[in-house]
Amino acid sequence: DTSTDDEDEGDDDREENEAMESRGRTESKETVSQCVDAEDKQEDKKEQPVAEEEVNEKNSTDEEKVQVKRESQPAIFIPVHRSSEIQEARLKLPVLAEEQVIMEAVKENPAVVICGETGSGKTTQVPQFLYEAGYASGIIGITEPRRVAAVSMSQRVAKEMNLSTRVVSYQIRYEGNVTEDTKIKFMTDGVLLKEIQKDFLLQRYSVIIIDEAHERSVYTDILIGLLSRIVPLRNKRGMPMKLLVMSATLRVEDFTENQRLFRTPPPVVKVDARQFPVTIHFNKRTPLEDYTGEAFHKTCKIHRMLPSGGILVFLTGQAEVHSLCRRLRKAFPFRRGHSSLPRIDLDNYSALPLDEGDEDREAEVREEEEDNDDEGSDLDLGDHPANSGKIQKEILRVFRSPPPGARLCVVATNVAETSLTIPGIKYVVDCGRVKKRFYDRVTGVSSFKVTWTSQASANQRAGRAGRTEPGHCYRLYSSAVFGDFSLFSEAEITRRPVEDLVLQMKDLNIEKVVNFPFPTSPSAEALVAAEQLLVSLGALKEPPQMERARLSCPITPLGRAMASFPVAPRYAKMLALGKQQDCLPYTIAVVAAMTVREIFEDLDRPAGSEDESQKLTQRRARLTQMKKLWAGQGASLLLGDLMVLIEHVCAYVTAGAVGACEFAGCTPKFCEENGLRYKAMLEIRRLRAQLTNAVNAVCPEVGVFVDPKMTPPTEHQVVCLRQIILAGLGDHLARRVQAEDALDPKWKNGYKTPLMDDPVFIHPNSALFKTLPEFVVYQEIMETTKMYMRGVSAVEAEWIPRLLPQYSHFGSPLESPSPWFCSTTGTIRCHRPSTFFRVGWQLPAVEME
Ligand code: CDP
Ligand code: MG
Repeated sequence: DTSTDDEDEGDDDREENEAMESRGRTESKETVSQCVDAEDKQEDKKEQPVAEEEVNEKNSTDEEKVQVKRESQPAIFIPVHRSSEIQEARLKLPVLAEEQVIMEAVKENPAVVICGETGSGKTTQVPQFLYEAGYASGIIGITEPRRVAAVSMSQRVAKEMNLSTRVVSYQIRYEGNVTEDTKIKFMTDGVLLKEIQKDFLLQRYSVIIIDEAHERSVYTDILIGLLSRIVPLRNKRGMPMKLLVMSATLRVEDFTENQRLFRTPPPVVKVDARQFPVTIHFNKRTPLEDYTGEAFHKTCKIHRMLPSGGILVFLTGQAEVHSLCRRLRKAFPFRRGHSSLPRIDLDNYSALPLDEGDEDREAEVREEEEDNDDEGSDLDLGDHPANSGKIQKEILRVFRSPPPGARLCVVATNVAETSLTIPGIKYVVDCGRVKKRFYDRVTGVSSFKVTWTSQASANQRAGRAGRTEPGHCYRLYSSAVFGDFSLFSEAEITRRPVEDLVLQMKDLNIEKVVNFPFPTSPSAEALVAAEQLLVSLGALKEPPQMERARLSCPITPLGRAMASFPVAPRYAKMLALGKQQDCLPYTIAVVAAMTVREIFEDLDRPAGSEDESQKLTQRRARLTQMKKLWAGQGASLLLGDLMVLIEHVCAYVTAGAVGACEFAGCTPKFCEENGLRYKAMLEIRRLRAQLTNAVNAVCPEVGVFVDPKMTPPTEHQVVCLRQIILAGLGDHLARRVQAEDALDPKWKNGYKTPLMDDPVFIHPNSALFKTLPEFVVYQEIMETTKMYMRGVSAVEAEWIPRLLPQYSHFGSPLESPSPWFCSTTGTIRCHRPSTFFRVGWQLPAVEME
């Protein structure tokens, strides 16, 4: 019995490999026209597999030959000329002692795992080892889960190696300095994933290093799974490739002892940390609410009473970081060149780019320096080389030493836990918490919650204090509480929706996602939910009943087009439909605006002073007024919050008069006055350009361009846009509870969604708060004081059966009426399909009454 099972498994793997192999050879350049008639194309493929193979072989062999030739050259030691200062600093790094062991292991094995404490020199040194040992025949690629890390590390390594940034380069979502001469390339994990989609064998690379694997970010996990297949394939074809996985914790069993991942477990090289002892001080009691206040008192006390040495404070989000910085600034005003007392260096307060910025809903972003977009998971790589260089500037501030007479004090979120090592920290103040986004798998409701961190994270934080000398860690919680922490943080992939990943994997021709060698597999439940959503969006084809249990819905042409757009599947669907009625520029604008978080400043935050409170009130009034203008009247009002988005995006780029609004151009000042976040606006502009490129690449005949003078959509277009939005957000449909059903006061003005038992509401800030349309679609539900729908747009009842037959009930209302959908007065009538959706992908045919 067992042997049969094994054989089965082997077959499955082979199948998968072959699928991947053929994908690697084929350049995946599905254009829209190909997609539209790909039904036939797929048939073709089946009929003439040989011909197809030959063409592909022909296309790639030349390139491959060159590659093979280059790589079969003997490895030569490439000298690097480092300054003596750098050399001296390097020699102090623990990883240097392991150079030989690491290089031996790399030579003997296709995959190697390196474990070493943060600051031991993994990120900066290992790429240099490989370069010197002659592994730079192709590119040495290093992935980081965070953008800041990718940029700062590339700069650091270039400096250490005395090489130009043309050779040691980086690529993150919107910027990069990669050239033809690039030999060492730092990038975010999302960037590499995109590259795998273009070239499955990653032929330009000779080595891939997956850094910070302990963070278990989703893309990192998937990359490891993919590379566990790519590396053997490359070796089989005589194009050797090495994989290194680097982790800050010793907990690497998920990678090494996972039979599905690597047949032979990769060796683990341990780098002994030269860590100075850190004395841990627990609080006697654990403040349940005001840990920021507690952090303030602790920091003041350390600063007043303890000898010199930097302080690093860990809090959970940007709002907290800024409030603490403000309080500290007030308590210790720094005047340059004055008195001899040690002081806190104010310049370094907000120096650290903050983690989870994009997701930080309470973000209080007012200072221009504050970076908000260090969200590692940037799958989308635009064609936008070196953009602003802003991130670079900010990182330099972190590594700058404080002015004489000042004490370095950095207040940070968990970005400082392992990605960046800030020199000179002797005291760590740890609030013990972390802010995480939680998703309800069934309903898709997401909310940010501050929860206890894990023991492993708390220990990482403490370790930051012992880098250069013995240090102290002040934990703002009791040892009993610490004892209750989970040992490790769970892999991200197990707690987020995975539809985007599933679509990307299907596009890589990995049909049975359930068989994919994830280091930690998402739950079967999450995979099923993802496939169902993708089927309902038309990105996957529902398999015949028999195969359903095996979860292998094949990707459709629409799905392939959607996968090429760098946004989540729901938005990708909108882009795919957007070309009708000249709606594409608006669709792009609205999708860009929807995928950027927190466009409006949080004007409801508590004010620090009377003056500020007044200012906030004024700005709130102004924003409400602007929103009214933006939302418009009549037809456009029904587009609701999304009309507001379109209008402010238009307004921003036209910098002139739009509709009824007079704008002075979107300067930071303008944004502040109108309650818009300037940084979010910049991001929207970049995304618009990027999405426009993506649409043009998939669909060249459309020839859309970013029009700075976009006029507001016509009434006709508004209707079309509402339908496009419904088609994308269809599973986020909600219906207002009828008066007769709303006897329970909790349902007053409430909406019912298919999956939730409790009512959801239109937020008072929404453009549709007063209108209360019968049917709406929403972008997402955020749970604050109530379950509020965000990004609401009105839906006409008769569109639903046409665009969302899966939610519609056809036939007499008396026989099994679908309780949440059927109106009390009878079934929804369908009109004949109108001119909308006439071009482009056909929506599923609906049989109507
Ligand atoms: O990756 P790992 O945490 O093992 O260490 P690393 O990031 O390679 O850092 C090694 C050393 O380089 C640390 O002491 C950092 O403070 C230092 N470093 C630096 O001074 N400037 C940078 N931009 C990056 C690292
Ligand atoms: Mg590192």
